[in-house]
Amino acid sequence: MSKFPKLVLMAALAMATVPVWAETYGIGRPALPEEIAAWDLDVHPDGTGLPPGSGSVEDGEALFADYCAICHGDFAEGVDNWPKLAGGDGTLADEDPLKTVGSYWPYLSTTWDYVHRSMPFGNAQTLTDDEVYAIVAYILYSNYLVDEDFVLSNESFAEIELPNADGFIIDDRAATEYAQWTGEPCMSDCKENVEITMRALVLDVTPEETKARKVKQLVNATNPRNATAQDKVAVVVEAPAEDEPAAEEATAELAMPDPEMVAAGEKLFKKCKACHQVGDGAKNRSGPQLNGIVGRAAGAVEDFKYSKPLKAKAEEGLVWDAEALSAFLAKPKTYIKGTKMSFAGFKKEGDLEAIIAYLSTFPD
Ligand code: HEC
Ligand code: HEC
Repeated sequence: MSKFPKLVLMAALAMATVPVWAETYGIGRPALPEEIAAWDLDVHPDGTGLPPGSGSVEDGEALFADYCAICHGDFAEGVDNWPKLAGGDGTLADEDPLKTVGSYWPYLSTTWDYVHRSMPFGNAQTLTDDEVYAIVAYILYSNYLVDEDFVLSNESFAEIELPNADGFIIDDRAATEYAQWTGEPCMSDCKENVEITMRALVLDVTPEETKARKVKQLVNATNPRNATAQDKVAVVVEAPAEDEPAAEEATAELAMPDPEMVAAGEKLFKKCKACHQVGDGAKNRSGPQLNGIVGRAAGAVEDFKYSKPLKAKAEEGLVWDAEALSAFLAKPKTYIKGTKMSFAGFKKEGDLEAIIAYLSTFPD
């Protein structure tokens, strides 16, 4: 009962006249002018919709320090993982661009509107219009786009053009491509069956990891999810599988994988995901589930149909310790001739270490 009337009321607020169904059911009412005004805040790139007002960089600096700096830094440079509002100039074509109001946003109206509508975070719409002008002026100043004596107002607004104004294009696909998608679909005598011959992940069309990514992973490695992965490792160390001495050794060896490695390995696991699962409830896909694989005997997943060559290795007593895994994952088809695992292999040594570190965080 609780959700429905609320939705109806919200819908009613958006409409000036009583809709037919409201009359029919006797619920809802027309929105009041002040309710509409509270919603009707949007500002257009040319400044349409801006309220009259103004604010200086100088005032903005003080206001920013009071209301925004705790998250966005004194110079809008960002604190920890809170968004940076300044900098990033010329990084848009980089692998890991820094997108800020200065480097990325096309129109100042978006900045004004965003701050006005939703900041300070958790205390939205508490700023006066003049305060918003001043703060936005200060954000411009932090991006070296205006001088320290600049005053932003509804009148000076149109003077400002953001550096990336031309970086956005109008989506013209409706005119240029739509016709191609809307040709008559084949409905008879079409191809008999569709066969998936390769997956993009296996074909290796997904770009390799690079340094810029690694830095991000370092940051990610401090997030609680990865802390959990480490906790899991701790559990493995405390309770090694008793009947598998090799397992104990291998796990001990990898007792505390470097979180950076684990994070890098998590990314690399994308290459395996099409065929393998790990974690709670992992199931066999086209490859066996890999929980506890580090230290697990080869070919040990009971309900998985391994290839003959892999089964032969298993009978010889192959155990997936770090060394065996490295050799296998470097060149699966060389290490086990005739394996049915279609994966070309990792070329970089760091990748092997990382994927094994990641896999080691999933106990049986
Ligand atoms: C408590 C922390 C906090 C405070 C205080 C805060 N913000 Fe934010 N701000 C955020 C978070 C979080 C986001 C990202 C929100 C999202 O992506 O949905 C954000 C996003 C932004 C963005 C968009 C950034 C982008 O590139 O996407 C702007 C602009 C911004 N804030 C301005 C301000 C201004 C101006 C103030 C002070 C009036 C302020 N913020 C106060 C946390 C904060
Ligand atoms: C295209 C599907 C596919 C991809 C991609 C793939 N695998 Fe496999 N994997 C298999 C199959 C199938 C087997 C069983 C091989 C056999 O029986 O010869 C297997 C077997 C294995 C085994 C041996 C398991 C056991 O129980 O003995 C390991 C370890 C393994 N894969 C790890 C990986 C890792 C790590 C990746 C990613 C880097 C990966 N695989 C990518 C399909 C795949």
